[in-house]
Amino acid sequence: MYRISELAREVGLSRSTLLYYEKLGLIKGQRQLNGYRVYTNGDLQRLKLLLQLQAGGLSLKECLACLDAKVDRQLLEERLATLETEIAQKVQAKVLLSSLLGMDSMRSWHQAMDKQAPDAHFDWLLKQGFTEKQALKLRWLSQDMNVHDQYIGEFDAVFNGLERLGPGSAADTLRAWGKLPDSNGAVLEIGCGKGISTQVLAHHTRGSILAIDNDELTLCVAKLNLAAQQLSEPVRFVCASMTQLPFDSAKFDVVWAEGSAYIMGVEKALKYWRRFLKSTGFIVFSDLVWFTDEPSTKAKMYWSTQYPDMQTVEYRIEQIKRLDFEIIDHFSLSQEAWDNYLQPLKAKLMEHATGTIDTIVLSDLKDEIDIHDNYLGEYGYQFFITKLKR
Ligand SMILES: C[S@@+](CC[C@H](N)C(=O)[O-])C[C@H]1O[C@@H](n2cnc3c(N)ncnc32)[C@H](O)[C@@H]1O
Repeated sequence: MYRISELAREVGLSRSTLLYYEKLGLIKGQRQLNGYRVYTNGDLQRLKLLLQLQAGGLSLKECLACLDAKVDRQLLEERLATLETEIAQKVQAKVLLSSLLGMDSMRSWHQAMDKQAPDAHFDWLLKQGFTEKQALKLRWLSQDMNVHDQYIGEFDAVFNGLERLGPGSAADTLRAWGKLPDSNGAVLEIGCGKGISTQVLAHHTRGSILAIDNDELTLCVAKLNLAAQQLSEPVRFVCASMTQLPFDSAKFDVVWAEGSAYIMGVEKALKYWRRFLKSTGFIVFSDLVWFTDEPSTKAKMYWSTQYPDMQTVEYRIEQIKRLDFEIIDHFSLSQEAWDNYLQPLKAKLMEHATGTIDTIVLSDLKDEIDIHDNYLGEYGYQFFITKLKR
């Protein structure tokens, strides 16, 4: 037998709550000769059950109905579904907190956030003290901010000495260039990397090229490459971010972006870059796209984290038109373009297999190669030659 104060202590509820429950008929005190009310073990057990049902999200009324054996299955199923969602959210919140403390990897969180709320995620990274360049690189590499410095250093070490940072070939660059009406305009090349395409453009232009990249070291290599080919004449290099271009508007005839628009997002890039074009200007860019509406699960899963905004060619075309550009032409990059990127990368990975590079970097690059080896063809790179609508 329990007095009300003892019962209150056992279940962690106040006296007044118990009296209220008694009024509702959940528990039934028996008045003793000395005037005190006492409660049985049965009362205690009903209270414990009630608390558990309440913790499951049931209202007091629903709990009482349940305790009286009138179980409403549909209601319980609904509560169960809600509970499962809440548990999943809590698990995610737990992973986030432990990741922020460096106890867990934040990679999947970053990837999910970048997909669901790219702008908010990006702003948040800046608030964590990352520069715009670092934050974009995290996005570019689909990485976790906790492994930032080491990962990026080692990633750069693998690519050091490799000409191409993505697929491309001189023939494809030239094919796209040939779609432009003349070759004497002012070209703004964005994300020029080591200047491989810049060399092709420099060979064929009768105008000028302003090539930008936000990586000083990469730009130095680009300058040396151009100088070695005696192609420096029409080219000027500027270290700048594609998201904050230090140029006057309406200055260029062509914006050229091979494998770089995705870094800030194709839609954002087209909307922002257009202001630097003359009214008759062109944007020529290449982007990773799906060639099928029904890709294999593995490929789909891989790219959903590595490039969440990857789209079909048809989608990109509609998007380009919606943004007030005409499509002059579009075509898929050749096998040669992929070989130029993948063959040296594979050789470099072999070299590093027994070296000091962290296994995460190597295994990430191996995963990428594995996906290309098995699923390239379901997706690929597409060149889009677009012109501002009048
Ligand atoms: C995949 S590579 C493509 C390089 C080159 N266009 C090519 O096809 O070989 C992307 C390039 O964009 C540069 N990049 C990344 N973020 C950038 C930014 N915010 N502004 C300018 N360049 C950026 C990288 O340094 C890198 O050189």
